Amino acid sequence: MNVIETKNLGKRLSTSSNEELLILDNINLHIAQGESVAITGESGSGKTTLLGLLAGLDIPTKGEASLLGKALSPLDEDERAALRLGKVGFVFQSFHLMDNLNALENIMLPLELDKGSSDIRQRALDALKQVGLEKRSTHLPTQLSGGEQQRVALARAFVSKPQILFADEPTGNLDRNTGEEIIALLFDMQKQSDTTLVMVTHDDSLAMRCQTHYKLVDGQIVT
Ligand SMILES: Nc1ncnc2c1ncn2[C@@H]1O[C@H](COP(=O)(O)OP(=O)(O)O)[C@@H](O)[C@H]1O
Ligand SMILES: [Mg+2]
Repeated sequence: MNVIETKNLGKRLSTSSNEELLILDNINLHIAQGESVAITGESGSGKTTLLGLLAGLDIPTKGEASLLGKALSPLDEDERAALRLGKVGFVFQSFHLMDNLNALENIMLPLELDKGSSDIRQRALDALKQVGLEKRSTHLPTQLSGGEQQRVALARAFVSKPQILFADEPTGNLDRNTGEEIIALLFDMQKQSDTTLVMVTHDDSLAMRCQTHYKLVDGQIVT
């Protein structure tokens, strides 16, 4: 089953000076459950915009995207959020942890938002252990290194065993060794949970470790 599909997906923006900017055009792709996909391209080629459209965080100006078998455009923002809840996780370049919550609380958060969850604290502790930070549960993000913050972000993303993980340059703010540790962990967790991985990166060697590679040039897929 395809968990993501797009048909002639496109995105235009009008700039402050009222110019029309074509950011993405004619994107056709299909991603199967459990597949690992890399999206590469130069800075400004539309990678983050595409991820936002696939995840239903942003709406297209042309074409259609479907997520988990549901067309996104008929859904409003709340319905799209409900579709993602417990099934879609995110990891960002700049970690995006809640500054006022400690490591454990950050991981508990997505489970608390999902009313069907139980054993929240224990599951968050298990996830923290899985990323090797069980001794850091009460630390705030500011008390953790970049690599540690990204580990917490990975634990938060995987704690609900999502069907899909979207990652936007997850190693972009990390040094090479730390980045490689994070990627190893990410692929481990992805395999364990049979999660579909959609990862934006400008690192070609990382892209080659994914099963499928889409390359964006000027808003279009060229491979
Ligand atoms: N909200 C916005 N308003 C105007 N231009 C935008 C906006 N978001 C993105 N862009 C432009 O769209 C293009 C693609 O951006 P983006 O998807 O962030 O690229 P990438 O992630 O590949 O670096 C860039 O030229 C960027 O400047
Ligand atoms: Mg980007």
